[in-house]
Amino acid sequence: MSGLTTHPGLTTTESPFIEQARQDGRLYIEQPYELYTPENHEAWRKLYSRLLPRWQRYANPHFQEGLACLSLPHDRVPRLAEVNRFLEPRTGFRAKPVSGYVPAFQFFDCLRNREFPTTITIRHGDHLDYLPEPDIFHDVAGHVPMHTDANFAEALVRFGECAHTAAEIATGIRDPQRRSHALTSIIRAMARFFWFTIEFGLMKSPTGMRVYGSGLLSSYGEIEHSIKSSDVQRSPLQLEWVINQGFEIDHYQPLLFVVDSFDHLFSLVGCLEQWMKEGRLNHVAPGEPIVNERDLNSFLQAVR
Ligand SMILES: [Fe+2]
Repeated sequence: MSGLTTHPGLTTTESPFIEQARQDGRLYIEQPYELYTPENHEAWRKLYSRLLPRWQRYANPHFQEGLACLSLPHDRVPRLAEVNRFLEPRTGFRAKPVSGYVPAFQFFDCLRNREFPTTITIRHGDHLDYLPEPDIFHDVAGHVPMHTDANFAEALVRFGECAHTAAEIATGIRDPQRRSHALTSIIRAMARFFWFTIEFGLMKSPTGMRVYGSGLLSSYGEIEHSIKSSDVQRSPLQLEWVINQGFEIDHYQPLLFVVDSFDHLFSLVGCLEQWMKEGRLNHVAPGEPIVNERDLNSFLQAVR
């Protein structure tokens, strides 16, 4: 850190504040707003101004309504307390600042409690397009406007509840090897479902195909590609397909799934849980995403 001429503030992968929080084992933190540098605010301004016309063209109407009612600032990083002041009265959801990776069970459990783990750092102004990890632009501009919609919020809470069902199923399996295999498979199926809906979902609308997935909503290039490109296969969402379909995070998605509405999404989450109870998620196709030990243990330790 010594020798830097400019303070890194809250820039992704360069923030001493975040490093310290992680070293101290603090996952849930405050948003130290005064640490954002002029460069951090400028990165937000650029990202927001580039995406705005694309949201108007490609985002689903629920996102656009959410954006309007949150009054997100165009020219500076938002304060999460301000975001929550608009968000909470609508659906009970809150953006909850975190210092980094939230293990899978805790993440889903936050959703169940209407809390959204939210990254507070922002990408470097020179790398606006691709970022392997989430940042506050992805989390707040991409995800949070969706949380203002009551039907979408219910689907998200319902999905969070599935994590508890998964943990109970796993603890009911006596043999440790069988338990570990089944749970890994269930977590993989849940992660795939989340990826192809909440992160990269498309939805029909009266005016054509629209985006509701936050990975698309926060990407200047991919939001247009997802709707316009002939390289993308767009299929009505079929649960059997989604839970067995691997994905890679380092390039534009070649396959996307379409839902009719958020009621439809809600009913699909219900199906996912039913299949989980019937053991139909215990042996999904191997492959991405890799389920790590931390995620596995987060589920095993959940049921006391
Ligand atoms: Fe995300």
